[in-house]
Amino acid sequence: MSEVLKREAAARAVAEITSGMKLGLGTGSTARHFVELLGERVAQGLDIVGVPTSEATAHQARECGIPLSDLDSLDRLDLTVDGADEIDPSLNLIKGGGGALLREKIVAAASDAMIVIADSSKIVDALGRFPLPIEVNRFGLGATRHAIAAIMNHHHAQGELKLRTSGNGEPFLTDGGHLILDAFFGRISQPEALSNELLDIPGVVQHGLFLKMCRKAYVATPNGVETLL
Ligand code: 5RP
Repeated sequence: MSEVLKREAAARAVAEITSGMKLGLGTGSTARHFVELLGERVAQGLDIVGVPTSEATAHQARECGIPLSDLDSLDRLDLTVDGADEIDPSLNLIKGGGGALLREKIVAAASDAMIVIADSSKIVDALGRFPLPIEVNRFGLGATRHAIAAIMNHHHAQGELKLRTSGNGEPFLTDGGHLILDAFFGRISQPEALSNELLDIPGVVQHGLFLKMCRKAYVATPNGVETLL
């Protein structure tokens, strides 16, 4: 059921793509549907170029026959289409459940617009139920972890800070070779302050709060796809 909904949301975004567009291609299971459907349209003659937000998406897009480029060759993109882990009423997001948050944020920031595609399980009143992914440098992990824990305490976080691991129990490594700490806040009441405080920690590379970056979300419910603006 959920895959059907994700695909419906993805199809709505694909319907907005026109020839000539330069597109950021998101990461995750919902973005996979978008890339697959986009590939079908490319096979029918749609002329676009995509900038992938992860090695996984790059691999899938190549298999789907989507022409790819990067942000060294294209400095601005028309649109990024990506999934999200949480969407609040202002279209602020938590992303990074798939570990691609750094490239996702770089690509979204280089785009004139960002559309999020999701099923309705991602809608929340306030961000923070989903653990906030924080990408950190491997050097100085202990000190960085300590500094993040202090900020969590200050923001009345309700849970712990966990080093993300892969299936084999080893630390998960991002495409950029960094680690991810997942921070269980429960409810983030001051996302902008939290964002600034986290970015002030030298070992923090980026975090998964995407604030004021998304202009539209297609959210699939069992009763149809809703457009959130
Ligand atoms: C990856 C992401 C994903 O977009 C997010 O985790 C949603 O994934 P899915 O569509 O599989 O639920 O941010 O870093």
